[in-house]
Amino acid sequence: MKKVLVATEKPFAPVAVNGIKTVLDEAGYEMILLEKYTSVDEFKAAAAKADAMIIRSDQATREVIEAAPSVKIIVRAGAGYDNIDLQACNDKGVVAMNTPGQNSNAVAELAFAMMLYSIRGAFSGASGTELRGKSIGIHAYGNVGKYVAEIAKGFGMKIYAFDPFVKKEDIEKDGLTALDSVEELYKTCQYISLHIPANDKTKKSINYDLLKQMPKKGMLVNTARKEVIDEEGLLKFMEEREDIRYVSDIAPDTRADFEAKFPGRVVFTAKKMGAQTSEANINAGIAAAKQIVAFFEKGDVTFKVNK
Ligand code: 3PG
Repeated sequence: MKKVLVATEKPFAPVAVNGIKTVLDEAGYEMILLEKYTSVDEFKAAAAKADAMIIRSDQATREVIEAAPSVKIIVRAGAGYDNIDLQACNDKGVVAMNTPGQNSNAVAELAFAMMLYSIRGAFSGASGTELRGKSIGIHAYGNVGKYVAEIAKGFGMKIYAFDPFVKKEDIEKDGLTALDSVEELYKTCQYISLHIPANDKTKKSINYDLLKQMPKKGMLVNTARKEVIDEEGLLKFMEEREDIRYVSDIAPDTRADFEAKFPGRVVFTAKKMGAQTSEANINAGIAAAKQIVAFFEKGDVTFKVNK
């Protein structure tokens, strides 16, 4: 009987765990549940018993992968797979997958929740501002970016996007203005919503030189990864420009500095919660379980991310 470890330091909603279990039960697989674990050793010990793993932002490092000799597939229930050591997967013959699109709406909704919370003075009763008529720049037009665009339409915003991997006509057919460069996006838009993955090319790419082009009363909205921000550059920029705000679902490493220096201008969630809804958990968790079953039963590698 195949054993599938669901290792989630930040647990799925119980309804999603039930859904995953149902999919695995129907396939005749066993689910091992490891939630809110507090050490790598706990994760390694559970992984050692498994044939497959479903994870979220849990760190599938070389150490964990090597501690799990029977694991043939790791599915990241979500979009970003920067938490999986793909080289270690390749070395060990492990297939790594993600579940693209399954939690995207939840992340997009949180981007707007953070924007509104910030421009309405943290719901303090103070007079704020509105989104209608303002410009928003979507930095990377993938699954989350598309939902952000859809929601922004409802708010009556002027919507721009830049994505070097998406054809301009594909962006424009959705009613957005596609820009030719990232610089143009940051120069044009008051609100910038980040949706780039964290990889060697993007890490620290949101730097002082890029940010300094932002128009008056600009806001950087980060529901992507903290690693893409050059924190020193952002600090310098916000020190120079008192009109700028930063809202992020992934607090910076220097969170205390940001909060001390820029009261009222930064919003950070307590814990990354963009994908933390029942719907997103159900969609991503069940997709992950189905992908594991399809992999073992039919050799299906549709969502494989390691080459
Ligand atoms: C993702 O990459 O799918 C999101 O960042 C969600 O991450 P989480 O599953 O750890 O909440």
